[in-house]
Amino acid sequence: MSIGIYDSGLGGLSVWRELRSKIRAPLVYFGDTAHLPYGDKSPEQLREYFRASLAFLESRGCQFIVVACNTTSSVVLPKIKHLLRLPVVGMIEGAVEAVCSAGGRRIGVLATQATAASGVYQNALGDALPGSEVLVQGAPELVPLVEAGEISGPKARTALEKYMEPLLAQGIDSLLLGCTHYSFLAEPITQLLGGEVRLIDPAPAVAGQVQAAWPGAEVSGAETEFWVSAQPKKFKATAELILGEVLPPVYLKMPGEEGS
Ligand code: DGL
Repeated sequence: MSIGIYDSGLGGLSVWRELRSKIRAPLVYFGDTAHLPYGDKSPEQLREYFRASLAFLESRGCQFIVVACNTTSSVVLPKIKHLLRLPVVGMIEGAVEAVCSAGGRRIGVLATQATAASGVYQNALGDALPGSEVLVQGAPELVPLVEAGEISGPKARTALEKYMEPLLAQGIDSLLLGCTHYSFLAEPITQLLGGEVRLIDPAPAVAGQVQAAWPGAEVSGAETEFWVSAQPKKFKATAELILGEVLPPVYLKMPGEEGS
């Protein structure tokens, strides 16, 4: 019984690295790199990508799915989660839990444009923390930077300044990373926050939710199978760069290879 982890590309690795330290189960990671970035795609496209990816993960033996993508969790899951056969954990509930434990009142959220436009964080955080202020900033340049391995240096800093300044100018007391790719920018983000504002990465809370919901048994020596829908070599090289470790082989999923 395997757990499938799904994202558009590298971002879901931030959840994967938390999950593997909490659960010993076979993991199958799928990055839908042929359709990157997800943040500028329509709800119909995102739904179709998720359908195909879910079928693929099922065909690899996954019986539990982690949607390690805020964009799919915001735009697709609320409409279809109740129709799915497999248990699915998305990003939003874990992120709300993490923000509630941090105890902020003026919460900034950095997210993809699709997540920002969905209004999901504005609503979910507004409901969970009545009276709080939620300011969501779309940050379209950040995912391409992470996918290019540009996680420090002037390009990342300039883009982050542009997106974070409006939030900082409005006096946020905490900043939620509303896209799994942004975990890999935590270092320059922390520098720009300057110690006053709390940085909230939802990945550990999401992994905790999976741990609580996972019905499978512990398996010793469980490993991860990595799959992408385009450019496996590039994915492996950049993943190793941003994670700082060597990964096993990354396989290419061919179009239509969904087992359905
Ligand atoms: N990492 C995903 C997210 O959390 C998708 C980012 C993208 O491809 O735009 O939203």
